[in-house]
Amino acid sequence: MEIRNEKPEDLEAVRRVNVAAFGRASEAILVDRLRGTDATFSFVALHTEQIVGHVFLSPVAIDGNCPGDRLVLGLAPVAVLPEYQRQGIGSLLIRHSLKECDRFGVKAIVVLGSPEYYSRFGFAPAKEKGLKCEYSVPEEAFMVLELESDALEGCNGTVKYRLEFDDLE
Ligand SMILES: CC(C)(COP(=O)(O)OP(=O)(O)OC[C@H]1O[C@@H](n2cnc3c(N)ncnc32)[C@H](O)[C@@H]1OP(=O)(O)O)[C@@H](O)C(=O)NCCC(=O)NCCS
Repeated sequence: MEIRNEKPEDLEAVRRVNVAAFGRASEAILVDRLRGTDATFSFVALHTEQIVGHVFLSPVAIDGNCPGDRLVLGLAPVAVLPEYQRQGIGSLLIRHSLKECDRFGVKAIVVLGSPEYYSRFGFAPAKEKGLKCEYSVPEEAFMVLELESDALEGCNGTVKYRLEFDDLE
């Protein structure tokens, strides 16, 4: 399994992976709309040269207090072709993202999803760091991971995803 940055020639395969994983086009369209935005990351997982997984990260804003210019990203979406799920590919994509974002100087990453799944990568309830999600979601489903200790010291408020996310139901 190879994990690498998305290349221009991957776009169609990335769309296919997202549509197949989510069973609808919304996430694929979201990725198409966000691609090219500053400080976004897009990684693909390849199995025998076929793209079988994809993860995307984009900047979020903290509406509240967060002194300094701290880059915080939202991890979404992450998708693995149904026939390749539960083989560790999603985990590889997420761990690779965390490593690359850390190298790039990202301070923290937020995610909205299953606490059982994301806690295995070190994500903890965002509430513990004084952050809440702008969407009405179960509190425990909104999580954060600081890539440096105390990276979010002094920050609190509502996390806002880019406007493109508003079209996602
Ligand atoms: C979520 C997803 C990316 C995980 O990819 P994956 O390659 O199957 O994940 P891994 O093999 O690394 O991990 C599988 C484990 O995660 C758990 N898991 C996966 N998705 C989960 C979910 N939504 N809720 C709870 N647990 C989940 C599985 O139970 C499995 O646990 P186990 O190994 O103890 O049985 C993949 O299932 C997928 O594409 N789902 C559809 C799209 C989606 O919901 N994306 C996430 C929201 S953005």
